[in-house]
Amino acid sequence: MRILVTGGSGYIGSHTTVQLVAAGHEVVIADDFSRSKRAVLGRLEELCGAPVACRVVDLTDREATRELFEQESFEAVMHFAGLKAVGESVALPLEYYTNNLGLTLSVLDAMRATGVKKFVFSSSATVYGEHASVPMREDMPTSATNPYGWTKVMQEQMLRDLATAAPDMRVALLRYFNPVGAHPSGLIGEDPHGVPNNLMPLLAQIAVGQRNRLNLFGRDYPTPDGTARRDYLHVEDLAAGHVAALDALSSREEAVSTWNLGTGTPTSVLELVAAFAEASGRVIPTVDSARRAGDIAESYADPTKAQTELGWKATRTIQDMCADTWRWQSSNPTGYPDA
Ligand code: UD1
Repeated sequence: MRILVTGGSGYIGSHTTVQLVAAGHEVVIADDFSRSKRAVLGRLEELCGAPVACRVVDLTDREATRELFEQESFEAVMHFAGLKAVGESVALPLEYYTNNLGLTLSVLDAMRATGVKKFVFSSSATVYGEHASVPMREDMPTSATNPYGWTKVMQEQMLRDLATAAPDMRVALLRYFNPVGAHPSGLIGEDPHGVPNNLMPLLAQIAVGQRNRLNLFGRDYPTPDGTARRDYLHVEDLAAGHVAALDALSSREEAVSTWNLGTGTPTSVLELVAAFAEASGRVIPTVDSARRAGDIAESYADPTKAQTELGWKATRTIQDMCADTWRWQSSNPTGYPDA
């Protein structure tokens, strides 16, 4: 298939691009490089064995987006583009709603105008909200605790409404748990824009000597060691989940399918710190801190639906996730070069 990958130079988009190309698909990336670096493209060329087409476009610009779709003939869209920093979304809600909803509306408008029916959406386990029980199942109610999370809930709703009006659409809502890790080559990985908020990139930057210590946000959670537990998932498994979801869409009866992408196994903050110290051979200094606003004690998937319906299962371990993150970070201590 000829696939538009929006945000294809970002963390998850770049790893998925490599697997789509390996599976025989033709990929066109659309990105504005506002949160990523152009150097990703050279790395993708190395991993894919040929250049990956890339269009620099502001996808919130409806006319530019339509023009892109009219010039290329896409058969499917994988939509990764969007802003994703929770704290920033609390400070800049209008920017988050304008950008994240605007991007999706503009892409869906261009899809409708050019007859593209398949859409794979980067959703998040954040849509299960603050009071969900674990493990989280796809049929649980959705909610959010911050503007970023609400943009995911709202985009899911927009897609469901659109599919009601256009039942020949085939939409996959992929709810990611906590993506971490990097391509085993160490050529591509997570290169956060500014100071990272998320645990794994912080551990990597501490191990490589760019930061001093980790704040442990909360030691009093009702978990075995008192730190919060999450479902960390290797980005290579996540990318494989996208390829599987796209393959499955053609034969789905439902217009909208929702799949959790997670391992189903929770890991605590302290367990991840220990695993990363082991993988990197570095000491990770920690300091006890108060809970972070909006954090929940436990978040992990019931991944049964994706296993049954997609034949997809995460196979990589926490040790793989830490080893691959460390290979990426130690060979690219400050991320991608600017050029
Ligand atoms: C966060 C977002 C979530 C988003 C996801 C995207 C919040 C509240 N949630 O998930 O909406 O979809 O990132 O990647 O921001 N931790 C520390 N010290 C730190 C950083 C994190 O102890 O300096 C802890 C957190 O309290 C949490 C765990 O590490 O228990 C994982 O945190 P993080 O990587 O930010 O992911 P989430 O909070 O699960």
